[in-house]
Amino acid sequence: MRAPSGYLLAARYRLMEPVGRGGMGTVWRAHDELLDRDVAVKEVRLPTVLDEELRAELCARTEREGRATAMVAHPSVITVFDVVTEDDRPWIVMELLRAKSLEQLIQDQGPLHPRRAAEIGRQILGALRAVHAKGILHRDVKPSNVLVTEDRAVLTDFGLAALEGDVSITQAGIVLGSAGYIAPERVLGSKASPAGDLWSLGATLYTAVEGRGLHGRRTAAAALAALSSGEPIPMTKAGPLAPVLDALLRIDPQTRLDSVRASLMLARVAAGGSAEEPLTPRKTVRPTTTIGPPSFTRRPAHRGLHRAEATAAELTVPAPRLERKAGEGVHRKRVDTRPAPSAYARFKATVIKLCLPRRFWPRELRKRG
Ligand SMILES: Nc1ncnc2c1ncn2[C@@H]1O[C@H](COP(=O)(O)OP(=O)(O)OP(=O)(O)O)[C@@H](O)[C@H]1O
Ligand SMILES: [Mg+2]
Repeated sequence: MRAPSGYLLAARYRLMEPVGRGGMGTVWRAHDELLDRDVAVKEVRLPTVLDEELRAELCARTEREGRATAMVAHPSVITVFDVVTEDDRPWIVMELLRAKSLEQLIQDQGPLHPRRAAEIGRQILGALRAVHAKGILHRDVKPSNVLVTEDRAVLTDFGLAALEGDVSITQAGIVLGSAGYIAPERVLGSKASPAGDLWSLGATLYTAVEGRGLHGRRTAAAALAALSSGEPIPMTKAGPLAPVLDALLRIDPQTRLDSVRASLMLARVAAGGSAEEPLTPRKTVRPTTTIGPPSFTRRPAHRGLHRAEATAAELTVPAPRLERKAGEGVHRKRVDTRPAPSAYARFKATVIKLCLPRRFWPRELRKRG
């Protein structure tokens, strides 16, 4: 049963109101009364049919996963503050984000522009690479587990699907992972792997950019059948993102795009380029520099010019002129080509300079100074 609003969890977290509901439970906005700040609390719901031993095991696993996630500090990995076991079930206390899930975003706004989807993908892939490096798998990457705030994309619900593979849980009817986002090899019974998370990321970005699930099939088995039919993946709106999605969604994990190349390709698309641009840096020609809209990853082409101050005319910065008028910009000292004076002449000049005011000096001497 769901906890009532106002419930005080662990004598510390006061549940205020639900911010979302999913297959595994409810997410609450709660107030941490010790630190006087708002947090998000995920109330994990377990089926009542589970026996005591299995419940205890699930709580222990959730705690383990919570601890593991808390080890990873990354802007795109949700920050877990606490894992509590109370009322025979696990509760996860995490940072409260002012965010919409990617699923809600697609529902509200329709398909995302490929550049925006690529930027979200780039950040989520950063999160996956950070956790994979610590030996943690996500196992349930899907649009509802990607939270999008004003300035970042954050992956949440780490390891909740770690409960997978447990026969008693499957028999109890818990759906782990979502059809359409589970990698084909996992549907066929292989263990979860980093490559499986990458496939799920591909399927998530596919939904983001196309506005619908990969196969529109309701079950993982049907999705797999469609995948293995050998038909090319239908994409109409993916644009520059299509080659990345194609390579992430390969059925064979061995030939699937690896995370390093995926991250490079996503960064290129997010910056407005093409996924398959050659790696060699382009030569910069500087005839005229035009300032475009700020990009996510590249430094702006201008320096010291604030957008608010710039008028339309100022948005074009002329490059330096290359040709030069005769003598312009030449700062070399003029060379004196006259013959050097003799020792006698130098002596005479010194005497004159010492004894007479300047206006009585001969013209020649005044000129030499
Ligand atoms: N840390 C958070 N801060 C703010 N809102 C959150 C947070 N975590 C989750 N939410 C919101 O709660 C909603 C439900 O999340 P939840 O994980 O329970 O559901 P789900 O992902 O759809 O299903 P599943 O149970 O399979 O994970 C999310 O879509 C999101 O809008
Ligand atoms: Mg979730």
